[in-house]
Amino acid sequence: MVNQDVYDELLEKFGAHYGVAPTVVSYAPGRIEVLGNHTDYNEGYVFSAAIDYGTFFAVRPNDLGKNRIVAGDLMHEVTFPLTGATPVKEDTWANYVIGTVAGLAALKPQTRGFDAMFLGNIPLGSGLSSSAALEMCTAKALCALWEIEADAVTLAKIGQRAEHDYAGCSCGLLDQISSLCGAQGKLVKTDFRTLKVETVDLGPTVCFLMCNPHAKHALVDGQYNSRRQACEEAAAYFAKVLPHPVTALRDVSWAEWEAHKAGLDPTVAARAAHPIGEDERVLEGATLLEKGDLEGFGRLLNASHKSSQVYFENSHPEIDRVVAIAQATPGVLGARISGGGFGGSAVVLVRADQAEAARAAIAEGYKAQTGKPCDVAQITPSQGATVVFRAE
Ligand code: GLA
Repeated sequence: MVNQDVYDELLEKFGAHYGVAPTVVSYAPGRIEVLGNHTDYNEGYVFSAAIDYGTFFAVRPNDLGKNRIVAGDLMHEVTFPLTGATPVKEDTWANYVIGTVAGLAALKPQTRGFDAMFLGNIPLGSGLSSSAALEMCTAKALCALWEIEADAVTLAKIGQRAEHDYAGCSCGLLDQISSLCGAQGKLVKTDFRTLKVETVDLGPTVCFLMCNPHAKHALVDGQYNSRRQACEEAAAYFAKVLPHPVTALRDVSWAEWEAHKAGLDPTVAARAAHPIGEDERVLEGATLLEKGDLEGFGRLLNASHKSSQVYFENSHPEIDRVVAIAQATPGVLGARISGGGFGGSAVVLVRADQAEAARAAIAEGYKAQTGKPCDVAQITPSQGATVVFRAE
């Protein structure tokens, strides 16, 4: 099993804390966003992958009339009621669990409480979606415990609602879908209008590096939400000026943006350019992958990063630095910011036979320029969320 050491530690801590063993344990991975930045809530396209870092969630029913959840790294416990739980102000990690529980209990109300604990190894605030992993391992475990049959889209939407209503981030569905639908060695390609998910083989000649320079990541502090608002404002404008229906920026081509951008506030026009360009890059990328043109695919990652810098302004100086170092490193085919932005991590597509040398060169290059460490790790696209243990 992937991350067996984390699983073993969780079971030990669960037993020590609650005095009994869990009846269900689930696992959900984090994700990398490979191409298609801020396109999900614009009903566009994304290439992503579930990663080999994730979170386990262990649970058993109790007869206390309330739910208890422990963060296994902090060993802090939060208690919340079976119904009507509101967001907590301290130990705010619990809100991802509380919000997901609220969504599942709406599908099937519960009369018994549970005792749970989670533990994972996704670096927090790194842009690898530790929060979606927590939501999705909560959902997988409780679906098993409560005998709820729900498909991936239903669970992803429950996680998204938890983010919106309990954590204050108006995110799309990318992180949850990626965590649920990942497959070993594959990219996940999602159409966020139809919610059709496909997996795409990248082949053995390339792999990914994640570079985390520990730059501030502030998804929840309003920048993400303000970008989303600008995209919605632009979509409403294009719906008025274009002759065909526009319900989201997905419906606007680059040529239409060029032709009509002058009617928009310049900042809003710049924000809209990013997801519009990203959609075209994902579609072009799909064609390139079919032809086996990995160099061309890598160049699209570089173009995506440039668009984040110029139009969306959701990069960060330290991410720009590591992206520039990576792009100049032998064996690297492309590099860009991954995820919401304003910090987080950079994703690097690299030739597999040069990955280790590139990993060391990027870390050393960053250290030489800044005197600070940048964590650079090889990432293996991995399977999505699943139940890993169920008592007979
Ligand atoms: C965050 C959000 C996703 C998506 C990405 C940007 O990860 O949670 O829904 O919008 O940013 O592509």
